[in-house]
Amino acid sequence: MNSKYDLAWLRYDEASAGRSAAIKPFEGYLSSIVAEEAASPVSRTAIQELTEGIAKLTGKQPSVLRDAAADRFLAVGTIGSGGNLPLLKDSIETAETARLGEEGYIIRKAVREGKEGIIIAGGTDKGLLYGVFHFLRLLQTAGQSPDELNLIEAPKYQLRMVNQWDNMDGSIERGYAGQSIFYQDSIIVSDLTRVREYARMLASVGINGIAINNVNVHEVETKLITPELLPDVARVADVFREYGIRLYLSVNFAAPIELGATSTADPLEPAVQEWWKQRAADIYRYIADFGGFLVKADSENRPGPFTYGRDHADGANMLAEALEPFGGLVLWRCFVYDCHQDWRDRKTDRARAAYDHFKPLDGRFKDNVILQIKNGPMDFQVREPVSPLFGAMKQTNQMLEFQITQEYTGQQRHVCYLIPQWKEVLEFDTLCQGEGSKVKDIVAGQVHPYKYSGITAVSSIGNDYNWTGHYLAQSNLYGYGRLLWNPELSAEEIAKEWTSMTFGLDPDVTDTILGILMESWPTYESYTSPLGVGWMVVPHYHYGPDVDGYEYSKWGTYHFADRDGIGVDRTQATGTGYTAQYVGANAALYDSLESCPDELLLFFHHVPYMHVLKSGKTVIQHIYDTHFAGVEQVEQWLVRWAALESKLDRQRYEHVKERLLEQLESAKHWRDVINTYFYRKSGIKDQHNRVIY
Ligand code: GCU
Repeated sequence: MNSKYDLAWLRYDEASAGRSAAIKPFEGYLSSIVAEEAASPVSRTAIQELTEGIAKLTGKQPSVLRDAAADRFLAVGTIGSGGNLPLLKDSIETAETARLGEEGYIIRKAVREGKEGIIIAGGTDKGLLYGVFHFLRLLQTAGQSPDELNLIEAPKYQLRMVNQWDNMDGSIERGYAGQSIFYQDSIIVSDLTRVREYARMLASVGINGIAINNVNVHEVETKLITPELLPDVARVADVFREYGIRLYLSVNFAAPIELGATSTADPLEPAVQEWWKQRAADIYRYIADFGGFLVKADSENRPGPFTYGRDHADGANMLAEALEPFGGLVLWRCFVYDCHQDWRDRKTDRARAAYDHFKPLDGRFKDNVILQIKNGPMDFQVREPVSPLFGAMKQTNQMLEFQITQEYTGQQRHVCYLIPQWKEVLEFDTLCQGEGSKVKDIVAGQVHPYKYSGITAVSSIGNDYNWTGHYLAQSNLYGYGRLLWNPELSAEEIAKEWTSMTFGLDPDVTDTILGILMESWPTYESYTSPLGVGWMVVPHYHYGPDVDGYEYSKWGTYHFADRDGIGVDRTQATGTGYTAQYVGANAALYDSLESCPDELLLFFHHVPYMHVLKSGKTVIQHIYDTHFAGVEQVEQWLVRWAALESKLDRQRYEHVKERLLEQLESAKHWRDVINTYFYRKSGIKDQHNRVIY
C-alpha cells in the first residue's frame, strides 16, 4: 500500500475487494504477455501498466515474451507494427482498422493453430495504452467472459483536456483538495512522482491534453513561456508524454509588456507579433509536441486586445500565427463579460455577454484557434441553461468547458456527482442546424465541420492524500474522462464502473455508493438556490448561503427578490432579450412563462411567489419543500453509510462519514437561511407549518 497518496480507481486491490469473480474467467490468459519490443515511450508505458496491473490484481507477475509459448496468452501491439504478432494481424480486418484512428483499440479473443489469445491492439501506441486500461478495467469490474469479448472503441472527441488552475506559489484557484502537485514556492517541483501518478489517472480515462497553470496568469507564471522556466516545463511535458498527454500553457496577453520587451501588447503591432513568434520558437525547441496556449483575455480584469481597440479575433489570430508553423493551437476562452456592472441597470445582462461578443466574429478566426465556451452562460452554477453560443458559429472551432472542481457545487465538502449535469448539457439540442444539433455533436465537430474541437474542464485535484478532498469526488474526475471518451455511457454506468474499481464488488457497498452518487446533484440543488436562479452564495468564497451577497454588487448576478416575487426577466418582450439568442423552438420554450421548464423558471422569468409551477406547487412552497427535503436526503445518506461500517476500511469509512456530517450541517444552514429569507420577504406561510425562523 502506497502511503503518500491514494491510488484512486487504479488501486487494483483484489483480495479485499472481492474481485476474484471478475478475474477468474481471464486467469488462463494472464501469465504471458506477447508483445513486440516497445517502439515508443507510450508503448513502453502500456506494456508496463499491463504487467504491473495484472501482477497486482492476481498476485502473479506475468512474463513478457516476443512469441507465444503458452497455449493461452495476451497479444499486445499496435496495428501496422504487428509484424511478428500474426495473431494480432490476422484477426483484424482492414475496415476495422480504419475505424480506430490513432486512439482507438480492439480487444477480442482470437484463435490460431490451437492457440488462444486475447488481443489488445491499438490504432497507434496511444490506442494501445487506452486498450490496456480498458482491459484492466474489465478485470476490476466483472461481467465479461473472454469468449464474448469483442470490443472496438475510439474516442468521440479529438481534444479531451483538463485545465489546472494551479499557481506557482502552490495555491490553486478554486482548489479544494490541498496545494498544487506541480508547484511549490514559485518553482516547478523537482520530484514529479505525483505528477506522474496524475498522468496515469488521466490516461486511464483517456485524457490527452493538460494546461498546467491557472488561466489567471500572474507575475511568475508569465515567465513559463521563457527559456528561464522552459527546461522545467519540459520536464513536466516529458512525464505527460509517456502517457499520451500533450502539455499546454495558459498565457498572459500582456506578457510582452510585463517581461519588458515592448511597451504595448497590441496584437496588430509587428514588434508584438514578432515577440510571440520568438516565444513559440523557444517553446518548441524545448517541447516539440507542445499543445498550445490557453487564453483568458479581456475577462475579469485580465489584459486583452480591447485595450488597443482590437477584438478577440485580432488577439487570438496573432497568437495563432505564432503557433501555426509548429502545429500549436490557441484555446481562446469566451468567459468575457462586464464585471463592473451597476446593479441598478436592469438592461445589461451578463448571460448575454459571450454570445454578444463572439457570434459577430464568426469566420474571422484562424483555423488553429478554438473558442472555449463554458457549459452555461453564467459560471458553473448548480443549474443553468446551456450556453446559446454552442453551434451558433459555423466557421469557428468550438470546445466546451466544464468545471470538475466543485466551486459552486459544494466545494468537495458536499457529495455532488456531476456527470448527470454534464450529460444534460451534452444532450441539449441547440437546433442550430435543425433538429438533432446536439451540443455533444457540435463539440465533436459533427454538426459544423470544425477542424479542431473537444471538451475541457477545470480540474479538481490537489496534493491531498485522496486527490480530490472528498473521496467520493474522485468519481467526477473519473467520470469526466469516461464521458469524453463515450458520451453515450449513462451517468449510472459510469458511476458503477468507478464504484466497482474503487470500492470492490460487494453489492451492498456498490449499491449504496451508487445510490448516493446518483441522488447527489438533485439533492445539492434542492437545498441551495431554487429554480435556476443561482448565485445565493457567500461572495468570493462561493460556499454556503448569502442570499443578497451578490445582489447589490458589480458582478451581474442578481435574483431581484422583493416582497412580491423573484427571478430575472430575460424574455424578449419585457426583459433583457437573452432568450432570443436561442434558436427557434428553444427561444420560444424559454421565452414563454407557460412552457419554460420549472427548473429554469427563475433564470428566465420574474414571477410572483404564488406562481404555480408545472409540478402544481407554488414557487414559494417549492422553495420550502425542496429545502426541507434536501436536508432529509442527507440525513438518510448518513444512515445508509453507517450500514457499510463493517464492509469498508476504517479510513475511507470515517472520512466519508465526517464529510456527510459536515454536508448535513451545511445543508441545514442553507435550508434555514433560504426558507427564512423568503418567508420574511413574502410573508407567506409554509403549508405544512414546519419550523422557519
Ligand atoms: C469563476 C471563478 C474564478 C475564475 C473564473 C474563470 O469566476 O470564480 O476564480 O477565474 O471563473 O473561469 O476565469
